Amino acid sequence: MTEPSDVGAGAGGGVPPGAGGPAVPPGAGGPAVPPGAHLLVCGGAGFIGSCYVRDVLGRRDGTRITVLDKLTYAGNRANLTPVEGDPEQAARFAFVQGDIADPAAVDPLVAAADAVVDFAAESHVDRSILDPSAFLVTGVIGVRVLLEAVRRQTDLARAGERHDADGRSMGAPRFLQVSTDEVYGSVEEGSSREGDPLAPRSPYAAAKAAGDLLVGAYRATHDLDVVITRGANTYGPYQHPEKLIPLVATNAIDEEPIPLYGDGLQRRDWLHVADHAAAIDLALRHGAPGGVYNVPGGTERANRDVVAGILARLGRPWSLVRSVPDRPGHDRRYAMDGGRIAALGWRPRVLFEAGLAATVDWYRDNEAWWRAVRDSAWDAYYARQYGDRLAASTEAERPA
Ligand SMILES: NC(=O)c1ccc[n+]([C@@H]2O[C@H](COP(=O)([O-])OP(=O)(O)OC[C@H]3O[C@@H](n4cnc5c(N)ncnc54)[C@H](O)[C@@H]3O)[C@@H](O)[C@H]2O)c1
Repeated sequence: MTEPSDVGAGAGGGVPPGAGGPAVPPGAGGPAVPPGAHLLVCGGAGFIGSCYVRDVLGRRDGTRITVLDKLTYAGNRANLTPVEGDPEQAARFAFVQGDIADPAAVDPLVAAADAVVDFAAESHVDRSILDPSAFLVTGVIGVRVLLEAVRRQTDLARAGERHDADGRSMGAPRFLQVSTDEVYGSVEEGSSREGDPLAPRSPYAAAKAAGDLLVGAYRATHDLDVVITRGANTYGPYQHPEKLIPLVATNAIDEEPIPLYGDGLQRRDWLHVADHAAAIDLALRHGAPGGVYNVPGGTERANRDVVAGILARLGRPWSLVRSVPDRPGHDRRYAMDGGRIAALGWRPRVLFEAGLAATVDWYRDNEAWWRAVRDSAWDAYYARQYGDRLAASTEAERPA
């Protein structure tokens, strides 16, 4: 192995899990996953995964995608309607409802795939504080099941015994794990680099960090072809209303109180979902084996200012905003250095103010989508998460 590694130590040497190293320049040796490949996309009915599926199939380059998704409360077949309603794309698309922690579901799908992209996760920090069990089952056991399946297929490929349904020889599958800036923990100043120690501070982030470490362990132990991306706070259409931007937009549309944690001065780096999906695809195709790639948005904003921007777009008053008791252990700031993904040729294209306006407009114009998601289970979650907090809330300080 001649390529630099970030996770695990391959046969030709490498660096310890989590340690840094240079990125491979774009185009070196052609894409690891060419157009027309068959991708297994786990968690492809969620927010970012469905954007990835829509964007990749929308290129009409012959790529085939099979989505494996458990359809938890966050998974939504409606997110894939644009693909399933288009005959050309639908012919290259298959949907399987199943759990990444279930080898019986995973093994045959990995056996047929040229690459696996894993978006599947429980993704909401607040829910991980209420009950982390599902986060660990999916984020640790599920990732292990996927890696074991990739390992078996890699062994077959190395023995020259991996074939597709038509008997054509197949190479080892590449595995891309979609991770998050939250694995670095709260970053008071400066920005996290890929080699920095992982310091997760919520059960969600701990489960994601555990997944990253497992990927590194399979790289070191079995020399699998793995890549990790760590994306920033992502926003855009089709995001579940539990997350900050859709929560504020949908409550504002309904003129309901808007809960804002603490002083609202927590800072996040915002990344548009289309830019995030593009970065993942670039890293899948051109990332170094064992490479880790931060994907920053390059747009740091205080939560309070984001809320103000949404209200301004919808013409709703600041008086809707209520300061509620903060999330325990709430990280104050995330920020990442994006030099490596930039070296692969990626830049965010969507400016935050334009992307936020378009996202708010999407929620205003697609009420049927989010009202269907805000069902009775949502009501129970919302009451549990915000009922007492809103009862104890105070007027929120206006941004300057
Ligand atoms: N949203 C963000 O701001 C953000 C930022 C960086 C990284 N990420 C990561 O990106 C990935 C996708 O995030 P998202 O915001 O789209 O999440 P999401 O909650 O919208 O979607 C997750 C999807 O995974 C599916 N899923 C959950 N458990 C599963 C299981 N055991 N087996 C199969 N499918 C399962 C769900 O049904 C859903 O479709 C996650 O891994 C998350 O950690 C998210």
